[in-house]
Amino acid sequence: MTKWIEIGALNDIPVLGSRVVRTAGGDIAVFRTSDDEVFALDDRCPHKGGPLSQGIVHNKRVTCPLHNFVIELRSGAAVAPDEGCTRAHPTKVENGIVWLGIQAAATVPAE
Ligand code: FES
Repeated sequence: MTKWIEIGALNDIPVLGSRVVRTAGGDIAVFRTSDDEVFALDDRCPHKGGPLSQGIVHNKRVTCPLHNFVIELRSGAAVAPDEGCTRAHPTKVENGIVWLGIQAAATVPAE
């Protein structure tokens, strides 16, 4: 089940920049493109775990700051010839507020 969390105003995220949201499942990087689309990926490059939040956003991709893997913001997939995939998370913007969808932790039914 997806749980939506409010992470603040769209304008708090720099254009072509990102913000890091800390969750129980790890850090999530929320990116803003030049046309105000918002995408969210685990803040870990599929190559060697580099911080994608510190990468350079261009079009709908981010280039990892460590070894220049290029990652699709929508899917988290590395652009060929590189390989690998970072987990992507749903986002939405409503009235200028950004929402991030994360998977609610599986709950153990009470006996
Ligand atoms: S850790 Fe991102 S390209 Fe190597």
